[in-house]
Amino acid sequence: MKILILNGPNLNLLGKREHAIYGNLTFEQFFDSLKKKYADVELSYFQSNIEGEIINKLHEVGFSFDGIILNAGAYTHTSIAIGDAIKGIETPVIEVHISNVYAREEFRHVSYIAPNAKGIIAGFGLQIYEVALDDVT
Ligand code: DQA
Repeated sequence: MKILILNGPNLNLLGKREHAIYGNLTFEQFFDSLKKKYADVELSYFQSNIEGEIINKLHEVGFSFDGIILNAGAYTHTSIAIGDAIKGIETPVIEVHISNVYAREEFRHVSYIAPNAKGIIAGFGLQIYEVALDDVT
């Protein structure tokens, strides 16, 4: 089973950025623990701050992988292009957010991912990635 975790802009700053919202772990530290816990899954991880690179990645894996767990960061709320990419691929996409975006600023209540996502998980910290993995595996 092949699963991609795809993180968008500013998520490379996890562990450094706004600790009260995003916690203290880097994603690399967390990903190491995920790889151990889900040892029987072919788990890949890609992060980019660049919208087009996220779209290219969706195209690259979106016809062969079994699931994509996508935290598109702020592009969630702005990117029609990422929304269209999800519409165009076959692999199911689960939208995740570390923070509860619905308890934050109103601009975070809009998602261009959600209409074509299998589901949305938001607001429980990094364990959202595990909840999503439990669903797709
Ligand atoms: C986020 C929420 C977004 O609104 C924000 O722009 C992020 C992270 C989250 O994981 O909570 O960068 O996707």
